[in-house]
Amino acid sequence: MNPAERVAQLRREIEDHNYRYHVLAAPSVSDPEFDLLYRELVELEERHPDLISADSPTRRVGAEPQERFRKVAHRVPMLSLSNAFDETELQAFYRRIATQLEVEEVRLVTELKIDGVAVSLTYEDGRLRHGATRGNGLEGEDVTANLRTIRSLPLRFREGPHPAIAEIRGEIYFPLSGFERVNRQRSEEGEAPFANPRNAAAGALRQLDPAVTATRPLAFFAYSLGYAEGLEFTSQGEVLEQLVRWGFPVNLNHESHAGLPSVVEYCQSWEEQRDSIDYEVDGVVVKVDRLDLQDRLGAVSREPRWAIAYKFASQVAETRLLEIRINVGRTGALNPYAILEPVELGGVTIRTATLHNQEDIRKKDIRPGDRVVIKRAGDVIPQVVGPVDKEEEGRGEPYAYPGQCPECETPIVQDPDEALAYCRNGNCPARRFESLKHFVSRSALDIRGLGPKTLRKLLKLEPAAGPADLYSLKAEQLSGLEGFKEKSVENLLAGIEGSRQQPFPRVLFGLGIRHVGETAAALLAGEFQEVERLMQASPERIMEIPGIGPEIARSVAEYFEVEENRGQVERLRAARLQLKMAGGDRTATTALEGKTLVVTGTLPTHSRREISEMIKANGGKVTSSVSKRTAYLVAGANAGSKLRRARKLKVEVLNEEEFLKLLRGEL
Ligand code: IVH
Repeated sequence: MNPAERVAQLRREIEDHNYRYHVLAAPSVSDPEFDLLYRELVELEERHPDLISADSPTRRVGAEPQERFRKVAHRVPMLSLSNAFDETELQAFYRRIATQLEVEEVRLVTELKIDGVAVSLTYEDGRLRHGATRGNGLEGEDVTANLRTIRSLPLRFREGPHPAIAEIRGEIYFPLSGFERVNRQRSEEGEAPFANPRNAAAGALRQLDPAVTATRPLAFFAYSLGYAEGLEFTSQGEVLEQLVRWGFPVNLNHESHAGLPSVVEYCQSWEEQRDSIDYEVDGVVVKVDRLDLQDRLGAVSREPRWAIAYKFASQVAETRLLEIRINVGRTGALNPYAILEPVELGGVTIRTATLHNQEDIRKKDIRPGDRVVIKRAGDVIPQVVGPVDKEEEGRGEPYAYPGQCPECETPIVQDPDEALAYCRNGNCPARRFESLKHFVSRSALDIRGLGPKTLRKLLKLEPAAGPADLYSLKAEQLSGLEGFKEKSVENLLAGIEGSRQQPFPRVLFGLGIRHVGETAAALLAGEFQEVERLMQASPERIMEIPGIGPEIARSVAEYFEVEENRGQVERLRAARLQLKMAGGDRTATTALEGKTLVVTGTLPTHSRREISEMIKANGGKVTSSVSKRTAYLVAGANAGSKLRRARKLKVEVLNEEEFLKLLRGEL
């Protein structure tokens, strides 16, 4: 087989595995073999650059960042839908179409209305050429490089026919499981969480650097054909079948109905079940099945007459906004939230809701005392949508955002790049509390028995306490605390004592430097080995570490410029905490130094590429096949043949958590 043939074969096989894994969610035995095939393709393409093509699976990642997005006109306008909010409005829709078509009965198709971002994908001869956002419906933005990173989105049609030009439409969405994971990570790193999965998807799609998009677990559902040269379809049902054959992920919860009654049932049943699936659905799209009838019905302004969106209602409620309060985070960010008159929403009682930021409150003109609409976002965190009636008589005064920190009265600083305002006082009691909470948390120093309540009591005792002060606590002080028995005092002191042995990366993470999560802390510690060297490093130097971007680098450098923070580190040193990697300086071996590792399967929080970067950053080598020389196999879900081979060769297998522990020197 010549290289060109092998490349073509590899691409087919790799995309086939991608398809089975990401579209069918039924990986074949070959996910681990996957890496082997992938490496082979990468190597062949490196040796024969003339064989590289845009639809190679290796091109899903690694495109260069862009300056801005090119505008693209849609071949066929992307319409929006009119809404129906109840059964009566669905009936009205049905009567309208039946009347216009002069028939008794019309076959309809129902599909879930995925709450994401609409995109249009253009395929030429069955290969992805470009993809664009909806924009204003006539013209969108070219986000092809970002779309390529989405594994469930086919780069090529699987089966024929391959029309010269086909335009496929669908929705990019953020699966809820991924949304929660990413938000957990963001808040750990002191970054504002995404408001909801839809915003998160839209934001990810509009990243100028596709490498950032690639870190977000986006997914895709195709639901229609804008255009397909030379192909004739008779119904929406047929279109969906063809999309499946081409290899697109199509949401399988669609149904065909002879008339309206079962459509209503479908809508109501999904309204009840909407929480049972891993993506947000904001309604049901009801479409006339036959395409010739769709054409006859046509469109008014930008809305087709042949389709309607039945919108789910239950996730919105009205209540009174009693008060606006502000929570000061560990990084000093001021997070406004609403105290509400308790109200039922989707089966739970809601008492508080987020208000995002100052600008948002002002724009929506939300005032204390207002009756407000609240909504559950991501079906988890409730948020205030806005006042029910801005014109209402006797409303309260507009909310005056505090000019100073509500906890320590330091004048607040508005970050010009962000919507958030900050308290810059490192001694702010609220910040102290949040910082301590972070310092003792599971992923940091892991001091048990020091929950929020105990921390508050401790801070009453010693208002200026920082992390280092925990280490000089005496039994006499603690036994004076309310509810503290001898045993709990003993346990707490033992917990604090034991935490002195926590390895350097955990201590570094525990400092709570903005943007520095567990992974970044492990990378920084691995690179610099000891805190002094990190403290002296310039942002440019820090950025040289694979996996560390400019934001983290700047944040680290800024943190250590602050006298207070340096003092904190010194006090931790005096308290005998681990401020360097065990085993000494850089020339000494770390756990991974000189070792060969293989990474396979799907890991819970990091991509294989990220894990590989970490290995390399810590002096290890990454290869694609397991041999006797492999020190460790890092294996995630669906690790098949590599895992078997590792077991056979008695190579040590680590899951992601164990690997990260090893990296942090804890294993
Ligand atoms: S059909 C003219 N089908 O809903 C037909 N749209 O307001 C319009 N959407 O922008 C599209 N799931 O982003 C259709 N199964 C589905 C859909 C769907 C979500 C979105 C799409 C569109 C919006 C309509």
